[in-house]
Amino acid sequence: MKFFIDTADIEEIRKAKAMGMVDGVTTNPSLIAKTGQDFDTCLKEIVATVDGPISAEVLGTDSETMVAEAKKLVMYGENVNVKIPMTVPGMVAVKKLTDLGIKTNVTLVFSPNQAILAAKAGASFVSPFVGRLDDIGHVGMDLVDEILQIFDNYAFTTEVIVASIRNPIHVKEAALMGAHISTIPFKVIQQLAKHPLTDIGIKRFEEDWQKVPT
Ligand code: G3P
Repeated sequence: MKFFIDTADIEEIRKAKAMGMVDGVTTNPSLIAKTGQDFDTCLKEIVATVDGPISAEVLGTDSETMVAEAKKLVMYGENVNVKIPMTVPGMVAVKKLTDLGIKTNVTLVFSPNQAILAAKAGASFVSPFVGRLDDIGHVGMDLVDEILQIFDNYAFTTEVIVASIRNPIHVKEAALMGAHISTIPFKVIQQLAKHPLTDIGIKRFEEDWQKVPT
């Protein structure tokens, strides 16, 4: 499973890259706003740091505006793909961009049927938001399971990015289901390394080492 980092914070990206955990990056308007930087500086820094796919999101709501924004976004780097919200105008934009050879990531996906539309329109990636489904009492990972089964049934090449990941269990379940990609906040990447028995084991080795004659 590929690990994308779900952040626009360049320091977090650098730290995760040093661990070998950055196969790509996903951003959205909220994540850009959290950095306190302007969009241009932010995306330029990410493009200069990461070789893998980088998702940058459009803000327009009609297909013409989305396509025009997308054309500007891909000028930042050949690895930039365009995040398009799952709407009817969004699918028109995805179809047009696919025909132009521009890769898209359809975002804010909350149902299997939305994922089918994204795949049929030609999206390179589809992003089901699992945490936000959990928030309203659904099981977000069930959606991922269903999308993977549907894509497999019809050999769709669209890759599933498990998004809105909130905890290590989401990552484990995504891997068990065979999701192509998890996009993970930096905090959760760090949590994946933690286990209390590892910490206890390190402490015990240190204590025992003190008893070795020098
Ligand atoms: O990748 C989508 C993600 O940024 C949304 O996460 O935690 O705001 O639902 P969250």
